[in-house]
Amino acid sequence: MPEGKRSFSGFAPRSKSLVPIPDAPKAAALHAAGIPKLYDPGLANTVAYLSSITFLDGPSGILRYRGYPIEALASSVEFDEVAYLLLYKSLPSLRQLQAFRVFLADPKVARLPEHVSAVVRAFPISAHPMTILVSALASFTAAHPHLNPAIAGQAVYRSTSNRAEAVSCVLGALPTLAATILQHTSGEGNGLQRSNVKSTQCSEAPSYTKRFFQLAKPDTPTVLIDALDTLLILHADHEQNCSTAAVRHLTSSGVDVFSALSSGVAALYGPLHGGACEAVVHMLERIGSPNEVINFLQRVKDRKELLMGFGHRVYKTYDPRARIVRKLVQSVLEHVGDSADPLIRVATTLERAALDDEYFVSRKLYPNVDFYSGIIYKAMGINPSFFGMFFALGRCAGWLAHWMEYLDDPDRRIARPHQCFTGILGPLKVPSIEERKEYNMFNPWEKEYISAKL
Ligand code: CMC
Repeated sequence: MPEGKRSFSGFAPRSKSLVPIPDAPKAAALHAAGIPKLYDPGLANTVAYLSSITFLDGPSGILRYRGYPIEALASSVEFDEVAYLLLYKSLPSLRQLQAFRVFLADPKVARLPEHVSAVVRAFPISAHPMTILVSALASFTAAHPHLNPAIAGQAVYRSTSNRAEAVSCVLGALPTLAATILQHTSGEGNGLQRSNVKSTQCSEAPSYTKRFFQLAKPDTPTVLIDALDTLLILHADHEQNCSTAAVRHLTSSGVDVFSALSSGVAALYGPLHGGACEAVVHMLERIGSPNEVINFLQRVKDRKELLMGFGHRVYKTYDPRARIVRKLVQSVLEHVGDSADPLIRVATTLERAALDDEYFVSRKLYPNVDFYSGIIYKAMGINPSFFGMFFALGRCAGWLAHWMEYLDDPDRRIARPHQCFTGILGPLKVPSIEERKEYNMFNPWEKEYISAKL
């Protein structure tokens, strides 16, 4: 593991987060000493975990995986190397990288279990791809009962070989699963045969990103494959975002890894999180022309709309990932000859206008990673409903790294936030059915059933 300055960033204000505070008190100890619990909507000021995976300094716009700046990783390595770094704490040597690729491309794990393919096929082709992914990923559990603590016992993840098997089951199968879901929702459901996932020799094992394209869109130009690989790196981890926190939350209950990851996919799919990328493209299409940007921004300021792809809980400056995507989008569009795409003109006009507008400046609202990435996915000929899948393909590496880190955390306890009760304290006497008043007649179904049917 490379040597470097280590830092403990919990409990200090973000801007001072390089100041180590090794013995910060736990909230439960403060409470025991008489300090009241805090009400913290959106957990905006709660440190729930210690982690050495990703360093994020929001006010300064710094993002590092295991100490390596995101800019350096995005420009010099491939996604598989970043996944390895997140999971195993150091960048792989060439031999380790080749072995990792062979491990993940092994048909034993890269082929979908028959029942998982059946889960995908059971969905109507109009289903949203992310809803299919939630179910299909959870259904992997049935193929690996020996990796399920409910069946094999709670000690099952103490074994490093079981953990490695879980990692390979997920990262091995995800490109195949994503390609299968893409083909199913495009109406080409029978196109992906199990035999498409071939045995590979060590030196020729394809990368994670190439495996997806080989199965889903084999004619994709290299520039787009490389662009997706960079986007997967940018999406690979982002400390305690909503989906990673969901994975940790479920892990705390001792549930199997596939169910925990499936909860991550469900959280990611929301439009305020990874679903924003899809929503940005719909927003740009609705705006339609650069001439409409000012009207649209007025609707945002009137709180009738959200400016999708803008704003972030942690970044209060330009998201460093968005800077990289902004450059990438230009080079991709030039290469595929689509630099006149009307969406890019709407997007750049919108970005400029928002960054010049007091409303957005005073709230420190800048483009985030999702603002421009949809334009790249669109250039690949992919339907917007599939965009969240790419986020999941990258973020799965981070989820698994957090899963492994959390399993080893001596502070791990079942997650159980508190609430402030705001209802009627009681105790009320339970009235007989004749004594009860009809308080709930505002329910539409009650009105209909009580007047028409009873
Ligand atoms: N459009 C308009 N106003 C906004 C936006 C936006 N996108 N984001 C924040 N604001 C306003 C918000 O209404 C508040 O205004 P006021 O103080 O007057 O009430 C102010 O800015 C501060 O916002 P906040 O409460 O600190 O925001 P948050 O941390 O609760 O929410 C967010 C973060 C990402 C959910 C939000 O910015 C948002 O909804 N953005 C659009 C969706 C989006 O692009 N999501 C992708 C995030 S990046 C990918 C990922 O990691 O998930």
